[in-house]
Amino acid sequence: MSDLHLKPIQPVDGAYNLPNYKAVYQEFSWNDVEKEFSWHQTGKVNMAYECIDRHVAEGYGDKIALHYVNGDEEQVFTFKDIQEKTDHLAAVLKKYGVKKGDIVFIFLPKGPECYLAMIAAIKLGAVAGPLFEAFMEEAVKDRIMDCEGRFLISDSELVKRVPRHELPSLETVFITEGPDKCRENEISLIKALEEVEPEKNSIEWLELDDRLNIHYTSGSTGKPKGIVHAHRAMIHQYQTGKWVLDIKEDDVYWCTAHPGWVTGTVYGIFAPWLNRATIVVNGGRFNADSWYSTIEKTGVTVWYSAPTAFRMLKAEGNEALEKYNLSSLRHILSVGEPLNPEVIVWGIETLGKRIHDTWWMTETGAQLIVNLPSEAIKPGSMGRPIPGIEVAVLDDNGIPLPNGQIGHLGIKASWPAIMREVWKNEEKYQSYFINGWYISGDLAVLDEDGYVFFQGRSDDMINSSGERIGPFEVESKLIEHEAVAEAGVIGKPDPVRGEIVKAFIVLKKGYTPSADLLENIRMFVKQKLAAHSAPREIEVLDELPKTKISGKILRRELKARETVKVEAR
Ligand code: WT7
Repeated sequence: MSDLHLKPIQPVDGAYNLPNYKAVYQEFSWNDVEKEFSWHQTGKVNMAYECIDRHVAEGYGDKIALHYVNGDEEQVFTFKDIQEKTDHLAAVLKKYGVKKGDIVFIFLPKGPECYLAMIAAIKLGAVAGPLFEAFMEEAVKDRIMDCEGRFLISDSELVKRVPRHELPSLETVFITEGPDKCRENEISLIKALEEVEPEKNSIEWLELDDRLNIHYTSGSTGKPKGIVHAHRAMIHQYQTGKWVLDIKEDDVYWCTAHPGWVTGTVYGIFAPWLNRATIVVNGGRFNADSWYSTIEKTGVTVWYSAPTAFRMLKAEGNEALEKYNLSSLRHILSVGEPLNPEVIVWGIETLGKRIHDTWWMTETGAQLIVNLPSEAIKPGSMGRPIPGIEVAVLDDNGIPLPNGQIGHLGIKASWPAIMREVWKNEEKYQSYFINGWYISGDLAVLDEDGYVFFQGRSDDMINSSGERIGPFEVESKLIEHEAVAEAGVIGKPDPVRGEIVKAFIVLKKGYTPSADLLENIRMFVKQKLAAHSAPREIEVLDELPKTKISGKILRRELKARETVKVEAR
């Protein structure tokens, strides 16, 4: 709460897309945005059209749409290039049976093919299901199995993590490379593109409520849930791209997230392309030099990343920073986890810019609470609701609490980008709502100016480096290990990653704890689920704290132990 007393940081004067927040908040209606889209005139809806083809039709075909950088490799695509390539790819997908409503999983590294595959699938009215490139076998299997995905676009490396024999629904697998890289029953896209004539106007016209994409996300219980968004989300995504990302004609925009995370899709593809921005895509892993050099090389003006990334850059010190000219940057944003005031101070001291925190969730489909470039930032606050959005801090019964009190962060339902459904789980979908409020699962405090201060989660969900990790998923994997009898998993506070995954385990009889055994257990989770889900710490206990009646593991108690240890330091 001490954060509430930090001094506000005033905006720098400039021509921003939303200069008068308070006035617009009073009068704004989402209906006003609809006239920005071609479907407002034509009645023909498709996100891919609004992102790409429309700009070509309006004379921007030669503008750079995508600038890819990976080490020394660079590739540049104009809007016309993307239009042609996605039309051609769509023709191939169509030939192999992809049609409206089919789920097309896309399991590719962060590179042009991933972005082309997303747009091509959406052109056909299919539901794009991007998977994070670090997912391992079980994580991939759970997702494809849950929604019975029929199609997959992958490459010869990542496809090795797709257990096809366990996925009867998965009929067709495309590989982005040549036939020499394909195994039996895999279709080479290079070959198929040679064989299939490019098709113009591959677009399937849809309704605003037709499905657009599916992102799996974790909660504190059960396996990840499939959050489905509809084409209608573009109204909200376009508008936040304009107001919050503040995109203008000459901007070069870089979102560092992979499309497998909702940020990488919504603010890595849709919002910037709806606003006709040039997007930067960087391949390869995080590394301060390559990140700074990407900014310099491509002339990034607007940059959207996450607190852990900023903290890692901060930890690298000024040596890396000083080698590069980052003067192109004009607007920096953050999302996914609490942005600590020290990071904001670092941004001002080293980059000479404020970092603008934003808040939203996979389920909300777009930003809801933000810091605008034209408004004061209160360090420690996620900002205020955008026009069109009403927030409140609620008690357990869904009744708004006075300012200054901690409660559940609720959003007045509904808004254009909100999830359309949770895949085949109406009960779960309904469980988000109470008294007409969407309950986020976050705890928050509101101040007298309407600024929202994040206070943690009301459940056991873990947020490590901005990645949402369900403890249940990790616990289930741990107890599959031959030596593990019981497991309780929590997020342990960490200065760089926000939280790290920490597991408490009870070993089966006959096993004794050793560094080797614990490393073996950690690798077991890493190789089956994903690196970010693997516990960075494992502690062996004789027994786990449990509820007396139902015998459920008390994660809260495990968490309390860690929090006390950190505070005692
Ligand atoms: C959860 C949602 C779609 C955004 C990326 C994460 C946490 C998100 C912030 C923020 C503190 C934040 C919340 C939220 N979170 N933004 N600015 N400050 N916490 O999406 O994976 O669906 O996770 O991330 O706890 O509920 P997600």
